Amino acid sequence: MNEAPARIGIVTVSDRASRGEYEDKGGPAIHEYLAEVLSSPWTPVSRVIPDDQPGIEQTLRELCGSDGCCLVITTGGTGPAHRDVTPEATEAVCDKLMLGFGELMRKVSLEKVATAILSRQTAGICGQALIVNLPGQPRAIRECLDAVFPAIPYCIDLLNGPYLTTHEARLKAFRPKK
Ligand code: MTE
Repeated sequence: MNEAPARIGIVTVSDRASRGEYEDKGGPAIHEYLAEVLSSPWTPVSRVIPDDQPGIEQTLRELCGSDGCCLVITTGGTGPAHRDVTPEATEAVCDKLMLGFGELMRKVSLEKVATAILSRQTAGICGQALIVNLPGQPRAIRECLDAVFPAIPYCIDLLNGPYLTTHEARLKAFRPKK
């Protein structure tokens, strides 16, 4: 029996993109990345929302709850500016934080840009879903996801989510041998 497509939340957190003042480039870049890497069926659940902590928390709770996402990837709002509150919203909705994600993403990003340390990006488990924060800069999406994505399918297995597979020539998911 074929499994239902995995539902994956894609959340752009940006005051200006949510007001339509500029085009959302981050959400489409995440969509494009997932389409390139995943070989198992999946469906995007996309949102573009302002940098408002209660609103971000509500969106994350909905995506991980009634929307049935196994994975939610956010972009934007991870920096030091007053309105950057995506990590706070992520921490508030998560039962567990997965600090290795932020550590690894900052490490690989630092090889590209000195300002990588300005991102407070984190990750965590909300119910049965994994939430991962990415910086708002579209090119950061590929840089960060290439580093952490190999561990994501197994993390979702451990949350009893759908079995995600990847195009191995592009990116090999790592599952420890039982
Ligand atoms: N990480 C990568 N890989 N590439 C980048 O260009 N930009 C940095 C940092 N992390 C960047 C990056 C910059 S300039 C900032 S201010 C922080 O992410 C926070 O960005 P955000 O507030 O848009 O999330």
